[in-house]
Amino acid sequence: MKKKQLFTMVNGLTGTIDIPGDKSISHRAIMFGSIANGNTTITNFLEGEDCLSTIDCFRKMGVEIKRNEDTVEIFGTGLSGLKEPVEILNVGNSGTTTRLLLGILAGTPFHSCLIGDESIAKRPMNRVTNPLRQMGASIDGREQGNFTPLSIRGGKTKAIAYKSPVASAQVKSAILLAGLQSEGTTSVTEPHKSRDHTERMLRAFGGEVVEAGLTVSVTGKQELHAVNIIVPGDISSAAFFLVAGAIIPNSRITLKKVGLNPTRTGIIDVLRNMGANVSISNETIENFEPVGDLTISTSALTGIEISGDIIPRLIDEIPIIALLATQANGKTVIKDAGELKVKETNRIDTVVSELSKLGASIESTDDGMIIYGQSGKLTGKTVNSYGDHRIGMMLAIAACLTEGPMALENSEAIAVSYPSFFEHLESLIG
Ligand code: S3P
Repeated sequence: MKKKQLFTMVNGLTGTIDIPGDKSISHRAIMFGSIANGNTTITNFLEGEDCLSTIDCFRKMGVEIKRNEDTVEIFGTGLSGLKEPVEILNVGNSGTTTRLLLGILAGTPFHSCLIGDESIAKRPMNRVTNPLRQMGASIDGREQGNFTPLSIRGGKTKAIAYKSPVASAQVKSAILLAGLQSEGTTSVTEPHKSRDHTERMLRAFGGEVVEAGLTVSVTGKQELHAVNIIVPGDISSAAFFLVAGAIIPNSRITLKKVGLNPTRTGIIDVLRNMGANVSISNETIENFEPVGDLTISTSALTGIEISGDIIPRLIDEIPIIALLATQANGKTVIKDAGELKVKETNRIDTVVSELSKLGASIESTDDGMIIYGQSGKLTGKTVNSYGDHRIGMMLAIAACLTEGPMALENSEAIAVSYPSFFEHLESLIG
């Protein structure tokens, strides 16, 4: 466990950053590259620990994956080429690896065991194991297969029409990946639209997917073909510097080649609704994913309500939005975000406890939190990421505003999604 001394009372962040690759897209590029026929090259792959766990799992199933200086090369085996792993598949801290991999394994005619870290062991898996069992996979594990360690024996799966109780791209993707291996058409209907990177990447690999309102369908037994993927910058990583630029006096930051998929841009809507100056330039589309540069500068902000359909579009940004709200005029209310309780930590609890330590006026609710903005200066303290990368980065940005020394326990967690985070922060401090 590392304890890191943080910068405090920073006088403005200025400069330009190339945001590292998107975590969700990097995972999917490894998975689709492995199950496609032919060689896939990935550029701007996120070398975070979560995505490295995905690489490790596919290597253990016999896929050759080469990490070069600037690219990752995958020698795809096709779906039927995956091999029964001799070793246990270790998913580390990664929920995306666990859930999407289960979807792939549901249709593979062999046995595998999955294990992860302490945080993964607390995250509910029955949201995917239940529908995958309906499709025919045989899954067991702790508490009837709700928690890791899990074991799965896949095989011949059948198509289902699944109505998901949660808006979750991990659930949707797991079922679609199992559906790709089943006879007939599999569909998933969600209560709100979740991120659609699986659908877009499936098209990039030559697959067919149909979207109608909140329902997505795939027909089984499609062949996927290798393609070169350029991974856009992760808007969830950019979010820390977007908020920093909005709240730290005298800041102006440009973030290059950030993914602007509309299922992920809730943070931009929130910033704009609160009064921030965000501009977008150089918009293009790469592998069906929109990309652009973002520039933000300091401005006065007003509290708002954040609820409903926008929640899945910014679910991972809520920790940093909570910090943003501490600096706005008035109250910010976050509702309909009960999913925060089953992320890398219970993010309602960890956000409220750590921001309260700094003196913020914030309270938890059943499905979110209420933040009373500008109710006093933040004061430096020793805080803890509790092993959650996004809590760690939010606290490091908070430190830029605090008076008095600030230290972050479990700072190493940040490497899960943004290994160069502190280097980038230092470059903006100048
Ligand atoms: C992800 C989906 C989201 C998100 C997670 C990554 C993905 O989870 O919170 O960080 O890559 O599909 P849910 O789909 O469970 O909401």
